[in-house]
Amino acid sequence: MRVLITGATGGLGGALARALKGQELFLSGRRAGPLLELSQATGGKPLPADLSDELEARALLEEVGPLDLLFHAVGVAGRHPVREVSREALEGMLAAHLLTAAFLLKHARFNKGARAVFFGAYPAYVRVPGFAAYAAAKGALEAYLEAARKELAREGVHLVLVRLPAVATGLWTPLGGPPKGALSPEEAAGRVLEGVLRDPPPQVLEV
Ligand SMILES: NC(=O)c1ccc[n+]([C@@H]2O[C@H](COP(=O)([O-])OP(=O)(O)OC[C@H]3O[C@@H](n4cnc5c(N)ncnc54)[C@H](OP(=O)(O)O)[C@@H]3O)[C@@H](O)[C@H]2O)c1
Repeated sequence: MRVLITGATGGLGGALARALKGQELFLSGRRAGPLLELSQATGGKPLPADLSDELEARALLEEVGPLDLLFHAVGVAGRHPVREVSREALEGMLAAHLLTAAFLLKHARFNKGARAVFFGAYPAYVRVPGFAAYAAAKGALEAYLEAARKELAREGVHLVLVRLPAVATGLWTPLGGPPKGALSPEEAAGRVLEGVLRDPPPQVLEV
Protein backbone atom coordinates (compact mmCIF):
# COMPACT_ATOMS: atom_id res chain seq x y z
CA MET A 1 0.00 0.00 0.00
CA ARG A 2 1.16 3.54 -0.76
CA VAL A 3 0.50 5.45 2.45
CA LEU A 4 0.92 9.14 3.28
CA ILE A 5 0.91 10.15 6.95
CA THR A 6 0.76 13.88 7.63
CA GLY A 7 1.47 15.02 11.17
CA ALA A 8 3.98 12.16 11.28
CA THR A 9 6.15 14.19 13.69
CA GLY A 10 3.23 14.15 16.13
CA GLY A 11 2.13 11.53 18.64
CA LEU A 12 -0.59 9.82 16.67
CA GLY A 13 1.04 10.19 13.24
CA GLY A 14 4.31 8.76 14.58
CA ALA A 15 2.54 5.76 16.13
CA LEU A 16 0.67 5.11 12.87
CA ALA A 17 3.95 5.27 10.94
CA ARG A 18 5.63 2.76 13.25
CA ALA A 19 2.60 0.44 13.03
CA LEU A 20 2.66 0.63 9.21
CA LYS A 21 6.39 -0.07 8.84
CA GLY A 22 6.87 -2.25 5.76
CA GLN A 23 4.30 -0.40 3.63
CA GLU A 24 5.41 2.17 1.04
CA LEU A 25 5.37 5.08 3.47
CA PHE A 26 5.52 8.83 2.86
CA LEU A 27 5.89 10.87 6.04
CA SER A 28 5.20 14.56 6.42
CA GLY A 29 5.49 17.09 9.22
CA ARG A 30 7.03 20.50 9.71
CA ARG A 31 10.03 19.64 11.90
CA ALA A 32 12.76 18.14 9.73
CA GLY A 33 14.79 16.55 12.59
CA PRO A 34 12.07 14.33 14.09
CA LEU A 35 10.85 13.52 10.59
CA LEU A 36 14.28 12.22 9.60
CA GLU A 37 14.51 10.08 12.77
CA LEU A 38 11.09 8.56 12.09
CA SER A 39 11.96 7.86 8.48
CA GLN A 40 15.12 6.03 9.58
CA ALA A 41 13.06 3.94 12.03
CA THR A 42 10.29 3.07 9.57
CA GLY A 43 11.84 3.25 6.09
CA GLY A 44 9.36 6.01 5.15
CA LYS A 45 10.29 8.89 2.88
CA PRO A 46 10.55 12.17 4.83
CA LEU A 47 8.78 15.10 3.16
CA PRO A 48 8.68 18.24 5.33
CA ALA A 49 5.85 20.68 4.56
CA ASP A 50 3.63 23.29 6.17
CA LEU A 51 0.26 22.12 4.87
CA SER A 52 -1.55 25.35 5.66
CA ASP A 53 0.38 26.73 2.67
CA GLU A 54 -1.38 25.50 -0.47
CA LEU A 55 1.78 25.60 -2.59
CA GLU A 56 3.64 23.42 -0.10
CA ALA A 57 0.69 21.03 0.10
CA ARG A 58 0.47 20.75 -3.67
CA ALA A 59 4.23 20.18 -4.05
CA LEU A 60 4.11 17.43 -1.41
CA LEU A 61 1.22 15.63 -3.11
CA GLU A 62 2.83 15.87 -6.54
CA GLU A 63 5.95 14.25 -5.15
CA VAL A 64 4.01 11.50 -3.38
CA GLY A 65 1.85 10.40 -6.34
CA PRO A 66 -1.26 8.19 -6.13
CA LEU A 67 -2.19 6.94 -2.68
CA ASP A 68 -4.06 3.94 -1.27
CA LEU A 69 -4.23 5.36 2.23
CA LEU A 70 -3.94 8.87 3.67
CA PHE A 71 -3.84 9.65 7.38
CA HIS A 72 -4.14 13.37 8.06
CA ALA A 73 -2.94 13.54 11.67
CA VAL A 74 -2.31 17.31 11.72
CA GLY A 75 -3.61 19.61 14.40
CA VAL A 76 -2.90 22.20 17.06
CA ALA A 77 -4.63 22.82 20.39
CA GLY A 78 -4.73 25.64 22.88
CA ARG A 79 -6.93 27.21 25.52
CA HIS A 80 -8.55 30.39 24.18
CA PRO A 81 -11.34 31.84 26.38
CA VAL A 82 -13.95 33.60 24.22
CA ARG A 83 -13.33 36.95 25.98
CA GLU A 84 -9.63 36.79 25.16
CA VAL A 85 -9.28 34.90 21.89
CA SER A 86 -7.19 36.66 19.25
CA ARG A 87 -7.75 36.73 15.52
CA GLU A 88 -4.35 35.03 15.21
CA ALA A 89 -5.45 32.13 17.44
CA LEU A 90 -8.72 31.67 15.50
CA GLU A 91 -6.98 31.78 12.14
CA GLY A 92 -4.25 29.42 13.33
CA MET A 93 -6.80 26.90 14.54
CA LEU A 94 -8.82 26.99 11.30
CA ALA A 95 -5.66 26.86 9.19
CA ALA A 96 -4.32 23.79 10.99
CA HIS A 97 -7.56 21.80 11.02
CA LEU A 98 -9.63 22.97 8.05
CA LEU A 99 -7.27 24.48 5.47
CA THR A 100 -4.71 21.69 5.65
CA ALA A 101 -7.45 19.09 5.07
CA ALA A 102 -9.04 21.07 2.23
CA PHE A 103 -5.68 21.50 0.46
CA LEU A 104 -4.92 17.79 0.81
CA LEU A 105 -8.28 16.82 -0.68
CA LYS A 106 -7.82 19.35 -3.46
CA HIS A 107 -4.40 18.12 -4.58
CA ALA A 108 -4.09 14.47 -3.56
CA ARG A 109 -4.26 11.72 -6.17
CA PHE A 110 -5.80 8.44 -5.12
CA ASN A 111 -5.94 4.90 -6.43
CA LYS A 112 -9.44 3.38 -6.73
CA GLY A 113 -10.74 2.19 -3.38
CA ALA A 114 -8.37 4.48 -1.44
CA ARG A 115 -9.21 5.60 2.09
CA ALA A 116 -8.55 9.13 3.31
CA VAL A 117 -8.65 9.38 7.08
CA PHE A 118 -9.14 12.56 9.14
CA PHE A 119 -9.22 13.06 12.88
CA GLY A 120 -12.11 14.77 14.65
CA ALA A 121 -13.09 14.94 18.27
CA TYR A 122 -16.18 13.91 20.20
CA PRO A 123 -18.27 17.12 20.31
CA ALA A 124 -19.07 16.59 24.01
CA TYR A 125 -15.34 16.46 24.90
CA VAL A 126 -14.50 19.78 23.26
CA ARG A 127 -17.58 21.84 24.12
CA VAL A 128 -15.89 22.98 27.29
CA PRO A 129 -14.59 26.36 28.50
CA GLY A 130 -11.50 27.50 26.63
CA PHE A 131 -12.02 25.12 23.72
CA ALA A 132 -14.43 27.10 21.53
CA ALA A 133 -11.80 27.77 18.85
CA TYR A 134 -10.66 24.14 18.75
CA ALA A 135 -14.28 22.89 18.76
CA ALA A 136 -15.18 25.26 15.91
CA ALA A 137 -12.20 24.11 13.83
CA LYS A 138 -13.07 20.44 14.36
CA GLY A 139 -16.74 21.16 13.60
CA ALA A 140 -15.75 22.92 10.37
CA LEU A 141 -13.53 19.99 9.40
CA GLU A 142 -16.34 17.52 10.04
CA ALA A 143 -18.85 19.57 7.99
CA TYR A 144 -16.36 19.89 5.14
CA LEU A 145 -15.76 16.16 5.04
CA GLU A 146 -19.46 15.28 5.17
CA ALA A 147 -20.15 17.55 2.19
CA ALA A 148 -17.03 16.34 0.30
CA ARG A 149 -17.86 12.66 0.83
CA LYS A 150 -20.05 12.27 -2.28
CA GLU A 151 -17.63 14.11 -4.57
CA LEU A 152 -14.78 11.84 -3.53
CA ALA A 153 -16.96 8.72 -3.66
CA ARG A 154 -17.48 9.38 -7.40
CA GLU A 155 -13.71 8.88 -7.76
CA GLY A 156 -13.84 5.68 -5.69
CA VAL A 157 -12.30 7.31 -2.61
CA HIS A 158 -13.69 6.63 0.88
CA LEU A 159 -13.50 9.44 3.44
CA VAL A 160 -13.26 8.29 7.03
CA LEU A 161 -13.73 10.61 10.00
CA VAL A 162 -12.21 9.19 13.17
CA ARG A 163 -13.48 10.63 16.44
CA LEU A 164 -10.79 10.26 19.05
CA PRO A 165 -10.97 10.42 22.84
CA ALA A 166 -7.98 11.99 24.62
CA VAL A 167 -4.66 10.54 23.47
CA ALA A 168 -1.43 11.31 25.37
CA THR A 169 0.48 13.27 22.72
CA GLY A 170 2.27 16.60 22.44
CA LEU A 171 -1.06 18.17 21.43
CA TRP A 172 -1.71 18.54 25.13
CA THR A 173 1.60 20.30 25.94
CA PRO A 174 0.14 23.86 25.71
CA LEU A 175 -2.70 22.67 27.97
CA GLY A 176 -0.41 21.40 30.72
CA GLY A 177 -0.36 17.71 29.69
CA PRO A 178 -2.90 15.01 28.82
CA PRO A 179 -5.83 14.21 31.11
CA LYS A 180 -5.86 11.09 33.29
CA GLY A 181 -6.98 8.03 31.36
CA ALA A 182 -5.78 9.29 27.97
CA LEU A 183 -4.98 6.47 25.54
CA SER A 184 -1.35 5.91 24.57
CA PRO A 185 -0.60 6.88 20.95
CA GLU A 186 0.19 3.20 20.20
CA GLU A 187 -3.15 2.03 21.55
CA ALA A 188 -5.02 4.75 19.64
CA ALA A 189 -3.13 3.96 16.42
CA GLY A 190 -3.93 0.25 16.78
CA ARG A 191 -7.65 0.96 17.21
CA VAL A 192 -7.63 3.42 14.31
CA LEU A 193 -5.94 0.96 11.95
CA GLU A 194 -8.22 -1.88 12.92
CA GLY A 195 -11.31 0.24 12.27
CA VAL A 196 -10.17 2.05 9.14
CA LEU A 197 -8.97 -1.07 7.31
CA ARG A 198 -12.30 -2.87 7.78
CA ASP A 199 -14.32 -3.77 4.67
CA PRO A 200 -16.35 -1.81 3.85
CA PRO A 201 -14.60 1.14 5.53
CA PRO A 202 -16.67 3.09 8.08
CA GLN A 203 -17.69 6.68 7.28
CA VAL A 204 -17.29 7.61 10.92
CA LEU A 205 -15.17 5.60 13.31
CA GLU A 206 -15.59 6.27 17.02
CA VAL A 207 -12.51 5.07 18.88
N1 LIG B 1 -4.36 13.88 21.18
C1 LIG B 1 -5.67 13.94 21.39
O1 LIG B 1 -6.15 13.82 22.53
C2 LIG B 1 -6.62 14.13 20.23
C3 LIG B 1 -8.00 14.00 20.48
C4 LIG B 1 -8.90 14.21 19.42
C5 LIG B 1 -8.41 14.52 18.15
N2 LIG B 1 -7.05 14.63 17.97
C6 LIG B 1 -6.58 14.99 16.63
O2 LIG B 1 -5.68 14.00 16.16
C7 LIG B 1 -4.76 14.61 15.23
C8 LIG B 1 -3.33 14.24 15.65
O3 LIG B 1 -3.07 14.86 16.88
P1 LIG B 1 -1.86 14.46 17.88
O4 LIG B 1 -2.48 14.23 19.19
O5 LIG B 1 -1.00 13.42 17.27
O6 LIG B 1 -1.10 15.88 17.94
P2 LIG B 1 0.45 16.25 17.99
O7 LIG B 1 1.24 15.19 18.65
O8 LIG B 1 0.51 17.63 18.55
O9 LIG B 1 0.84 16.30 16.42
C9 LIG B 1 0.32 17.30 15.60
C10 LIG B 1 1.01 17.20 14.26
O10 LIG B 1 0.46 18.23 13.41
C11 LIG B 1 1.55 18.80 12.69
N3 LIG B 1 1.15 20.13 12.21
C12 LIG B 1 0.53 21.13 12.89
N4 LIG B 1 0.29 22.16 12.07
C13 LIG B 1 0.76 21.81 10.84
C14 LIG B 1 0.81 22.43 9.58
N5 LIG B 1 0.35 23.69 9.39
N6 LIG B 1 1.36 21.77 8.52
C15 LIG B 1 1.85 20.51 8.69
N7 LIG B 1 1.85 19.86 9.86
C16 LIG B 1 1.30 20.51 10.92
C17 LIG B 1 2.69 18.83 13.68
O11 LIG B 1 3.89 18.99 12.97
P3 LIG B 1 5.25 19.55 13.66
O12 LIG B 1 5.24 18.98 15.06
O13 LIG B 1 6.33 19.00 12.81
O14 LIG B 1 5.12 21.03 13.67
C18 LIG B 1 2.53 17.44 14.31
O15 LIG B 1 3.15 16.48 13.49
C19 LIG B 1 -5.07 16.11 15.27
O16 LIG B 1 -5.94 16.44 14.22
C20 LIG B 1 -5.78 16.28 16.59
O17 LIG B 1 -6.63 17.43 16.61
C21 LIG B 1 -6.16 14.43 18.95
